[in-house]
Amino acid sequence: MKAIKKVIVGAMLACMPVLAAASEGGVHLDKAPLNLQDQASLQRGAKLFTSRCLACHSASAMRYNRLNDIGMSDDQIKAELELPEDVKVGSTMQSAMDSNSAKMAYGVAPPDLSVIARSRSADWLYSYMRTFYADQSKTSGWNNAVFPSVAMPFVLADMQGEQAMEDGHLVLKTPGSMSVAEYDAAIADLTNYLVFMSEPAILVRHQIGWIVLIFLSILLVLMYALKKEIWKDIH
Ligand code: HEC
Repeated sequence: MKAIKKVIVGAMLACMPVLAAASEGGVHLDKAPLNLQDQASLQRGAKLFTSRCLACHSASAMRYNRLNDIGMSDDQIKAELELPEDVKVGSTMQSAMDSNSAKMAYGVAPPDLSVIARSRSADWLYSYMRTFYADQSKTSGWNNAVFPSVAMPFVLADMQGEQAMEDGHLVLKTPGSMSVAEYDAAIADLTNYLVFMSEPAILVRHQIGWIVLIFLSILLVLMYALKKEIWKDIH
């Protein structure tokens, strides 16, 4: 009985961060369709991240060659991510803009995004990148439903198009180069990548999990055979 109680209390404690995150700010968050086994998705996310986000944000804890883990060779990293000559595959991902000039330009320095998926949840990021809307009262001309009055300009407007907030709902006013489904898929890839980047060992951990399960299954079969062997003369 005591053991059961312990398990129940343990499960409740484990759920607490989730409950806390769900109540954060009270805004509705869409569920991010993550799939960390999908290397093609992670690679598309990495390309979007390096081509569109590194202009302002760094990911100082992330080295380019860690992308080997998602199936990209060093040559692919150099060519597909169009690394400048002076950037090596062993370098960390540094922003093109230094944080002082960024602060001058936007009033807030764009934060390092290495572990952003841990401080903000995947669902938060997936929702954030899809809920920018035009707002002329803001300096950047943009506002965001998940992060009100954010200082970041909407840098993917060419892809998503321009949304407006009408009676508490987002309405797509001018379409971008992508359909809604295509844009959602691109942001799912980007979120997938941000989660991988926050916890690169996550892929290794999944593998270890499987190896442990396989090992335990083999052990179970062996133990059963052993039990039969030991008991066969006693019966
Ligand atoms: C033109 C510069 C610029 C670009 C490009 C840019 N951002 Fe930002 N971003 C900012 C600034 C400035 C902030 C700080 C906003 C604030 O605190 O009000 C920010 C904030 C954020 C935040 C919120 C961080 C937090 O928890 O406070 C996230 C997440 C983010 N950016 C993701 C991205 C992603 C993903 C991309 C690429 C698709 C990107 N940004 C591209 C300037 C930029």
